[in-house]
Amino acid sequence: MIKTSEQYELFSKFYDKVQKYSKYSEWKAFIEEIWRQQGVIPNSLLDLACGTCNNARLYAKDGIRVTGIDLSKNMLNIAEEKIKKHQLDIKLFNQSFYNIVLADKFDSAICLDFSTAHILRREEFICFLNEVYQQLNIEGIFIFDVKPRIDYERKFAKCSEFTKVNGLKYKWIIKFDEQDHSLVYVTLLAKIKEREFQEQNLIKTYTLEELKEIIAQTNFELIGAYDNYQFTEPKEDSKFWVFALQKNK
Ligand SMILES: C[S@@+](CC[C@H](N)C(=O)[O-])C[C@H]1O[C@@H](n2cnc3c(N)ncnc32)[C@H](O)[C@@H]1O
Repeated sequence: MIKTSEQYELFSKFYDKVQKYSKYSEWKAFIEEIWRQQGVIPNSLLDLACGTCNNARLYAKDGIRVTGIDLSKNMLNIAEEKIKKHQLDIKLFNQSFYNIVLADKFDSAICLDFSTAHILRREEFICFLNEVYQQLNIEGIFIFDVKPRIDYERKFAKCSEFTKVNGLKYKWIIKFDEQDHSLVYVTLLAKIKEREFQEQNLIKTYTLEELKEIIAQTNFELIGAYDNYQFTEPKEDSKFWVFALQKNK
């Protein structure tokens, strides 16, 4: 029998096992270069959809005051354990990024590893950006990434086999919605000692043009759009698109 779980209930247990940690340091180097180019030295950072704090902890180690918010209690529980274990100074809140209630404002914000794929409607994307805008100090920079549809198509082409890590076997099943081509059902199927678990997430893909139009609806200035954490133009077949926005007023 397959046990089916809620959003990130199952995935939180395996999340850190299936991540490649080197990517988080590479992303940080890229983000720091954007800050440097803009002449911004942030003292504080808001990590939106922080998950298990894989980004947040790197910045906290550098002495930046980091706050993380996430909708999933399960992901935050894992983050809490890591914060205690490594004695990090990170504040965590179980909040949605559509309705941020924090007393502090921040010099910078991030939302990484295609957490924005959970935003299922254009209007919600605008609401999300407006919420982040409210939370930033003037000149504050917000950096987020988006996974283009083509990368799910690539995953779809090669995810028929189970991958084995640390006693866990898992595979992704990708199914495109037949009516709305921007929607994708992403299922994680995991096997531990022959017991099977699965969790399905519905996610949305956006085109570059749609994202630029969404950003234009907000008060943010678009300071850069990039291909896969590189200082090159985003391409149709990028693995990630990365956007840097600044609050100028
Ligand atoms: C793929 S994980 C990325 C986690 C982390 N940013 C990282 O880079 O490892 C996506 C995260 O988005 C969170 N999430 C989804 N919808 C959210 C919302 N409305 N508000 C806050 N977090 C949300 C999920 O709970 C999950 O932890």
